[in-house]
Amino acid sequence: LIFETSSELAKHVANIVADLIRSKIKEDVPAILGLPTGSTPLGVYRELIRMHREEQLDFSNVVTFNLDEYWPMDPDSIHSYHTFMRENFFDHVNVKPENIHIPRGDIAADDVDTFCEEYERTIEKFGGLDLQLLGIGRSGHIGFNEPGSARNSLTRLVNLDPVTRRDAASGFFGEDNVPHHAITMGVGSILSAKKIIIMALGEHKAPVVKRAAEQEVTDEVSASFLQTHTQSQFVVDHAAAAEL
Ligand code: GLP
Repeated sequence: LIFETSSELAKHVANIVADLIRSKIKEDVPAILGLPTGSTPLGVYRELIRMHREEQLDFSNVVTFNLDEYWPMDPDSIHSYHTFMRENFFDHVNVKPENIHIPRGDIAADDVDTFCEEYERTIEKFGGLDLQLLGIGRSGHIGFNEPGSARNSLTRLVNLDPVTRRDAASGFFGEDNVPHHAITMGVGSILSAKKIIIMALGEHKAPVVKRAAEQEVTDEVSASFLQTHTQSQFVVDHAAAAEL
């Protein structure tokens, strides 16, 4: 789907999320959402917050799983995805704190594997993700699944690609301060979601959108694996669609 502007795109995606939440409320079951960070989903979060305030969109049945977190990273750091999610979304809606799941960047190295297995088990316990929202990195990553990530990879500790660290530099007062590692849900964890929406905005994403959506499925571009999912959709603005 191609939109003229990022705000039209954000409204479209926010409406899909809101419809899912309302239908799950009617069924009296939780809505299980997989959520991304980055600049791309900010418009969607803003629109959902507006719907909460002006249209009484109720998040009390919503359970969230974030894709990733830098490691090591104090959850209270200004650089953490925990802080990002609180400031840009969770502090402004009525998601119950106990329903929020974000990989922890303060897990000791020895405990990371157990933590990651537990994260997968918790998603399963809720019956899997109803809807996974994604951005895309210029390395083709989804979450932090850098080139070389396997189709069936699960939540794990990964090394960050130099392109990814460079793109994150402005948020860290320079590239040297960007962590070298992250904990991310795997490609397999993402593909287990019942429905997936991947968003891209801006002309700097145009080459990777073409690679992921129109060229061969390869572990060199993690997002290309979405072509193999029957309920996945690329949602882009005009600029990001420039090379399609
Ligand atoms: C980070 C996140 C990804 C996100 C990507 C793109 O690397 N881990 O989940 O998709 O950035 O960020 P942006 O939306 O700011 O372009």
